[in-house]
Amino acid sequence: MIATVRTARGLQGTVIVPGDKSISHRALIFGAIASGESTVRGLSMGADVESTSSCLRGLGVEIEDGMVHGRGFRGLRAASGPLNCGNSGTTMRLLAGLLAAQEFESELTGDDSLSKRPMDRVVKPLQEMGARAGWPPLRVGGRAPLHGVEYAPPVPSAQVKSAVLLAGLYADGTTSVIEPVRTRDHTEVMLGAMGAKLIVDGLRVSVECTERLQPLHIQVPGDFSSAAFWMVAGGLVNGSDIRLLGVGVNPTRTAFADLLASIGFRIDRANVRFEAHEPVADLRVRPASDRRPVRVERDQAARMIDELPVLAVAATQIPGTSVISGAAELRVKESDRLYAMEQGLRAMGADITASEDGWVINGPRHLEGARVDSAGDHRVAMALAVAGLIADGTTEIEGAECVDISYPGFFDDLESLA
Ligand code: S3P
Repeated sequence: MIATVRTARGLQGTVIVPGDKSISHRALIFGAIASGESTVRGLSMGADVESTSSCLRGLGVEIEDGMVHGRGFRGLRAASGPLNCGNSGTTMRLLAGLLAAQEFESELTGDDSLSKRPMDRVVKPLQEMGARAGWPPLRVGGRAPLHGVEYAPPVPSAQVKSAVLLAGLYADGTTSVIEPVRTRDHTEVMLGAMGAKLIVDGLRVSVECTERLQPLHIQVPGDFSSAAFWMVAGGLVNGSDIRLLGVGVNPTRTAFADLLASIGFRIDRANVRFEAHEPVADLRVRPASDRRPVRVERDQAARMIDELPVLAVAATQIPGTSVISGAAELRVKESDRLYAMEQGLRAMGADITASEDGWVINGPRHLEGARVDSAGDHRVAMALAVAGLIADGTTEIEGAECVDISYPGFFDDLESLA
């Protein structure tokens, strides 16, 4: 599908962004091994979360209308064939951790993009725990019990941390992950609330063997990473006033909003409350009063990894040179996001150069509508759509259907605001 985006003259209205993708995956996976029925309202309707549901169904878990019939800690059964994780790295890596600890073997597959992404980062710690695990293809499980380890991942990754902790729930002794940088902590929050023996001490997270998890009853907060597109769009388009209701503002997710605020963007929070043991707020976005160049380095990059493509769009409109570095991980996401954003924004007239681990962007530059390629990557497609709102003329985004991975109603919301 080719999506057409035209210059916006002011974005106004209220948006309810989809349920948080990270929390949705975890609610389904942890709910699947809980003892009893969980109710999860506001699940992400994106294709990635659907991949998790369908894999869990393959393992014998009943899921319908936000009800997850937990099979208990030892109740999963072997699937009849490979489990298809689609485009979803979170599905593949978290399930690898869970399934490595089972007495049966599982094979996990995915689409072309996922098949090329690095899985040694979960295979290695799982092998250290005594699991049978190999890749490619990704096969795990069939040798239990595991034993606890202390693991320090070389790359900050909430997916790797979560995979090791999930395996650790089934392992003898203590399993600890010592992170180089604190990544999103939804796993810790949710497992803690479900009664797992889990301790967070600075950058160290430890779990003990846990025999029973209580079911969950939650409303999933709105996805901060989806809201990020409107934060930039509302900040760049004159005359905008956007309200984003019920957005998750867990501090391990909001570094991007703090960065935008520090360079002059106006994002106000109201009605802060708790949902799913996580802080949630309504956000109001208005045009930036000032714009100062950004400098992002490794620790910060890890804390806003999913928001960096749309930060590149913002940087094209900021006077001076913005330097984003320490983000080599963007090369191994759903696409090579450093390359895809360089290509797309250049075609629109931006002064952007991809480096090994980031971009150098000189602004402000006047953008012109162009035909650009999403590279089949949902965050690239949405970031380029935001660029289209501030470009003159018409922008055509090829492969725009990939927004369905995390935000199926994205173009409807864009139309309602424009
Ligand atoms: C996620 C962690 C991040 C993020 C992804 C979702 C998660 O990936 O990019 O969209 O839910 O744990 P990494 O752990 O690979 O950094």
